[in-house]
Amino acid sequence: VAVIAVTSGKAAPGATTAVCALASVWPRGVLVADCDPGGGDVLVGWLSPWLAEGWLRAEVGVLSFATASRYAAGGTGEQLGLHTQHVYPARGVWLLAGVRDAAQAASVTEPGWGRLAEALAEVGGEGEVDVLVDVGRLGAGTPWPVLGCADAVVVAVRGSIRGVAAARTALRALDGRVDTARVGLLGCATRLDQARQAARALDRPLLAELPDQPAAAAVFSDGAPAPRGLGRSLLVRAARATADRLLTRALDGQPSGAATGTGGSR
Ligand SMILES: Nc1ncnc2c1ncn2[C@@H]1O[C@H](COP(=O)(O)OP(=O)(O)OP(=O)(O)O)[C@@H](O)[C@H]1O
Ligand SMILES: [Mg+2]
Repeated sequence: VAVIAVTSGKAAPGATTAVCALASVWPRGVLVADCDPGGGDVLVGWLSPWLAEGWLRAEVGVLSFATASRYAAGGTGEQLGLHTQHVYPARGVWLLAGVRDAAQAASVTEPGWGRLAEALAEVGGEGEVDVLVDVGRLGAGTPWPVLGCADAVVVAVRGSIRGVAAARTALRALDGRVDTARVGLLGCATRLDQARQAARALDRPLLAELPDQPAAAAVFSDGAPAPRGLGRSLLVRAARATADRLLTRALDGQPSGAATGTGGSR
């Protein structure tokens, strides 16, 4: 039903961590599409223990899809299915593994990203599985077709002055390329008041916020061993609430929520 793209400016606010934390508690089937053109972090981060154990393969993913579909007129969900992997330890999660680095991303090429966007839109539109895309930092290599197919574009932002500055640059990059009504903010490693302040400064709706929880976050960013009670941690609880909110808004066709800019934590 929904394709939700998470992106950011510089300063690594926690976009990938958010995508993985959300996927781990997503209430429906979910495909995590790692489309960070700087190099995918999902497989070498959150899923690295399962990569090391040989459950997942790094060479099956964005690049293999782009290569295999290079003579096709467009991208389809069926084709994409050949390049996604079921993440057995995380129930209902599928992975489209990312590229190794920027050089590999370049060989995906613009038409390759275009076919991928078509395929992701088809998967998201079929209604059985939602798609969470990690688009990485916005910049020269950004896969714009993928952002174009998203029902909601979520910009990760930290509450610091530096974090807000980075998000402002990211929002400017989106301006004119992505419908503003689909763009909202996700406060990362922030308190609610900081996140609200950031949203006010950026004049965009705050969709949700994830608290500063280094130990729990390291599970999703680096595949660190899960601390005790991870499922009840503030981060995972906030991720559940965030998933529900994103889904509701994406299904409403109103991903950006209230247009007040101060955001609404419902
Ligand atoms: N909610 C959080 N609480 C505490 N630490 C966090 C949180 N979210 C992310 N982090 C930490 O911030 C660092 C950067 O996270 P992450 O790799 O997800 O950022 P990113 O925005 O994807 O960066 P990049 O632009 O390089 O892809 C990691 O060390 C991660 O553990
Ligand atoms: Mg990242």
